[in-house]
Amino acid sequence: MFRAREAPFRKFKIIHLHFLSGTIHMTAKLIEGNAVAEAIRKDLRERISDLSKKGVRPGLAVIMVGDDPGSAVYVRMKEKECIDLGMRSKTIRLPADTSEAKLLGLIDELNADKLIHGLLVQMPVPKHIDPRKVIMRISPEKDVDGFHPVNVGKMLIGETDGFLPCTPHGIQVLMERHGIETSGRHVVICGRSNIVGKPMAALLMQKGKCADATVTVCHSRTRDMPSITRQADILIVAMGAPNFIKADMVKEGAVVIDVGMNRVADDTSPKGYRLVGDVDFEAVSKKASAITPVPGGVGIMTRIILMVNTVTAAERAKGG
Ligand code: GUN
Repeated sequence: MFRAREAPFRKFKIIHLHFLSGTIHMTAKLIEGNAVAEAIRKDLRERISDLSKKGVRPGLAVIMVGDDPGSAVYVRMKEKECIDLGMRSKTIRLPADTSEAKLLGLIDELNADKLIHGLLVQMPVPKHIDPRKVIMRISPEKDVDGFHPVNVGKMLIGETDGFLPCTPHGIQVLMERHGIETSGRHVVICGRSNIVGKPMAALLMQKGKCADATVTVCHSRTRDMPSITRQADILIVAMGAPNFIKADMVKEGAVVIDVGMNRVADDTSPKGYRLVGDVDFEAVSKKASAITPVPGGVGIMTRIILMVNTVTAAERAKGG
């Protein structure tokens, strides 16, 4: 399995942004995902080629229920990444009124399909479907999202034969490849979702490379959040709220990782909206030592780790 602690150590060029704020000249490094993703793609192509010599083509099935525009974009991008790597891609788009029973039946079929090694249901699902039942139904061996309790449990106790969740592990790899030290540092995570906040905390508090951090998790009920975020050496934000983190919530020189991807109305854009993160980039980049852009930071890492997990699932299915 691809894990940050096993990854060959490569540093990527960090781009410097220069701002003039009053009389103070400030600099933030840009932590970009694209170059890191490209290096991982190179490694994946070799693994996919080795599998093809054994007659195996890694296959990923993605199920989307409903027509949420944001989810539709994510699903298309996963499909494209899969095809570009020469993997098998099966995308199943179901109407929003699809019954829970029908969805669970489809998962059973894909669990049994030998051509499919990785399987996920894009979240969120419509309200009449219980996401916990969906996650539990996916075979842990095909759960390339790393959401099944078996994989969550393995991650928590540091077992290496499960699947790590894509966004948190992608952030770990992104930091490692940019030479950002986590050991002994105070990481503050804003957000406690099962997809990002909770697993991010679990991964960073583990013993080992790209981990060994002191972790604090803040959430919507946290009192006086700015007093906590200002203590962060590394601030990871996954609140789902545009421009939630302002400059006065960040310590001078902190590393800031923005997981947010929010659409805000913008009449000047042909699409009528633009994407912004959970961090007020313009203001915070004047204070941080390094920061991820949105888009171009964390999002691509989520997708590439999904591909890594799918190739790993195919190798394991083959006994490789
Ligand atoms: N919705 C937002 N992020 C994710 C993800 O990583 N996986 C799935 N299945 N749904 C999501």
